Amino acid sequence: MAFPSSKHYNYLPVSVLEETESSPRPRSDLEAPPKYSHVEEVDELDYAATRPAKRPESWKKAAALILIVGAVLYLAVSGFRNTFERIGSMRCSGHKLPNSFTLPSGDRIPSVALGVWLAEKGKVGEAVKLSKMDTDTSTALGHTGHNEAEVGEALRESGIPRKEVWITSKLWNAFHAPGDIEPVLDESLSKLGTDYVDLYLIHWPVAFKKDTDNEVDWNLTDNPYPTWQKLEELVEKGKIRNIGISNFNIRRIQNLTSNPLKVRPAVNQVELSYWNPQPELVKWSKENGLLLEAYSPLGSAERVKETLEVPEVKKIAKILGITPAQVYISWHVQRGTVVLPKSVTPSRIEENFRITRLPQPLFDELEKAATSHKPERSVDPSERWGVDIWN
Ligand code: A2P
Repeated sequence: MAFPSSKHYNYLPVSVLEETESSPRPRSDLEAPPKYSHVEEVDELDYAATRPAKRPESWKKAAALILIVGAVLYLAVSGFRNTFERIGSMRCSGHKLPNSFTLPSGDRIPSVALGVWLAEKGKVGEAVKLSKMDTDTSTALGHTGHNEAEVGEALRESGIPRKEVWITSKLWNAFHAPGDIEPVLDESLSKLGTDYVDLYLIHWPVAFKKDTDNEVDWNLTDNPYPTWQKLEELVEKGKIRNIGISNFNIRRIQNLTSNPLKVRPAVNQVELSYWNPQPELVKWSKENGLLLEAYSPLGSAERVKETLEVPEVKKIAKILGITPAQVYISWHVQRGTVVLPKSVTPSRIEENFRITRLPQPLFDELEKAATSHKPERSVDPSERWGVDIWN
């Protein structure tokens, strides 16, 4: 199946950190501000004000000179400060980062969502309420989804209308057999307290035989089309609005999409971070109109501290007056991917939703740093499952 080109994505203008709709004009963030034009203006005014009608006496001349020099110095200093502030608040250059991407169905998926996978029990609810709009729930720890019930409860308590929340859930490996999918989806829906999910993903390109200790079902692993067909049916039934894949490499995507699909994959959710930036997959996906979603975008809980200490990122954060986490999250969206930073800390959740377009040279610098070292994955169950997932 051929995907339409990436131009079919509708990158929507959105609000970003301290950028208002009425920004005066697009400007390069590295463009120097006008050279103290106000200094010259005021200087001229001051000068006019102190200009004597008649020939001044010498003390008046001296006083005027002191005044002028003082004014020029003051304005020069505040001019510098303004310049630095302006550089520091290079919140957004030219156009803004998108706050959503448009899927093949026409639905708009938020560009930043709250990842709740592995979020500690008891903390998910508050996090969901805080994030208000965007929730990525995952059934990573088995089909029951260890946090779906908590997410559902939080949503009910919050009173947020269902249509204002984006809910992603995933099909676990043990339920790829067509007959097993609807019951397990129904269970998720009931826990979440909803009658549809916005996005349902095949969690891994690996199928297990049901009720076994992760014994691989090679037929459904090598050929995921029967699983996909069932998901298409559930789209028709209205229980799922969009279907997608997760952890699929290019070969595995093509293996699926070479079938006569009725519904093409809306997204591919993969690990994307400074440590594992996958530039080839990002490029290929863009060229083939398949939206990527970045999980573990901050390098996961194990590496987040190290991730936030990367010198290039600290430098960019300082220049822009934002946090290193915001630099990464912005970078992901600017790469054209949805980003799912996981957090249960209220201040961080709030921080993580405030993104900003990085000036191109700084974006390029981060891209170069991320793609110049050997890639390292945080999540790789290949060995445990006996499947070479990435080949
Ligand atoms: P916490 O949930 O305690 O806030 P990833 O999204 O790559 O999986 O990383 C998740 C880890 O990053 C969690 O440990 C989370 O901590 C932490 N984290 C999320 N947002 C931020 C942030 N803005 N600053 C620092 N750490 C963060």
